[in-house]
Amino acid sequence: MKEKRLEEMPLMETNEGIVLFHPHIPASCKQYVTEILSTRWIGQGPKVNEFENLFTKKFVSKGTSLAVGSGTNALHLAYILAGLKEGDEVIVPVFTCTATNIPFLYMGVKPVFADIDPDTMNINTEYVKELITEKTKAIVCVHYGGLPCNMDELQAIADEHNLKIIEDAAHAVGAKYKGKYIGSISDFTMFSFQAIKHITTGDGGMLVVKDDCLREKGERVRWFGIDRHAKQKGIWENDIKEVGYKYQMTDIAAAMGIAAMEEIDETLALRKKLLKIYEESLQNIDGIKFIGGGYTDRTHAAWLCTILVDDRINFQKMLRYNKIESNQVHYRNDRYSIFGGRQDCFPNMDNVEEKYLVLPLHTKITIKDVNYICEIIKKGW
Ligand SMILES: Cc1ncc(COP(=O)(O)O)c(C=O)c1O
Repeated sequence: MKEKRLEEMPLMETNEGIVLFHPHIPASCKQYVTEILSTRWIGQGPKVNEFENLFTKKFVSKGTSLAVGSGTNALHLAYILAGLKEGDEVIVPVFTCTATNIPFLYMGVKPVFADIDPDTMNINTEYVKELITEKTKAIVCVHYGGLPCNMDELQAIADEHNLKIIEDAAHAVGAKYKGKYIGSISDFTMFSFQAIKHITTGDGGMLVVKDDCLREKGERVRWFGIDRHAKQKGIWENDIKEVGYKYQMTDIAAAMGIAAMEEIDETLALRKKLLKIYEESLQNIDGIKFIGGGYTDRTHAAWLCTILVDDRINFQKMLRYNKIESNQVHYRNDRYSIFGGRQDCFPNMDNVEEKYLVLPLHTKITIKDVNYICEIIKKGW
């Protein structure tokens, strides 16, 4: 796949220009989905198990994978399985997709925002330490853009205060920390297969749980609280004893996931190659800083290419004029009233707020496109 994609027509030569995101749909995907459409199972059936097993085999050294309808479903499920309750507090980065934090509001749990690390835009461990109270039960870390957080430091804090760690790895399929895949480290790791992620199932997600004993509960909670295994034996007289949700993945979605798993190594290799070109080409340009580069203890999953740029408005105008899309993608979560509104205690976030910007990175752009973008940037704005 890699070679073929590199030879594709550069997006800069199309009328649409260079779009920021594009879904990655493997060649085999249409065939796999078509096959499913003529079977008995289009909802949750055997393909979901097959996809879960493939995912576990590739990314999980110990534990089990539960496929669900979205990354947000996976986060909510993680928060339930981690035992979070009304009144608890969880420390989360102020900068993330709202999906990280919205499920807390379903549960009466309070997200307590921590400032970011200025070099990575990941959660800043120094701030995490200061925010721990008697009510703190967990830390959620987000591997922003695909670069893993400092997991050793987070684990040390969690161990000292008896906290759970939940990894939001929506951006980080295939990322590694000290040689281990993200998915093989903490008790709970969540992935997203939304339209523009490394792996897409249209919408979908995966929750990786280290403790296999939690699988049964996880399966029930993703299906109304019902034990589907018991139900499928024909006569079902069981009670429902816990509140569940309709959070399952369908076999149609799982077929897309299986197709994506078959070429995930090539997808990652291509994305990493493109990100590396950005990183090298944008070095030493006045007014630009590349976010998340230069780490040797972790491997970037290359989902986003983020830069800090002076005079962002003019920079974006210049890109738009050259038919190159760019965007902020995520925003500090204290801008939203549902989370209590603006706070004045995030100096690192304040510093980058008017500067950060995401550049195009996906499997439809070519090396020629990325070189073109970098050349345009070098001309100034
Ligand atoms: C950091 C982060 N967490 C969670 C999610 C939620 O995933 P989904 O859109 O699959 O529900 C996203 C979505 O893009 C995300 O970027």
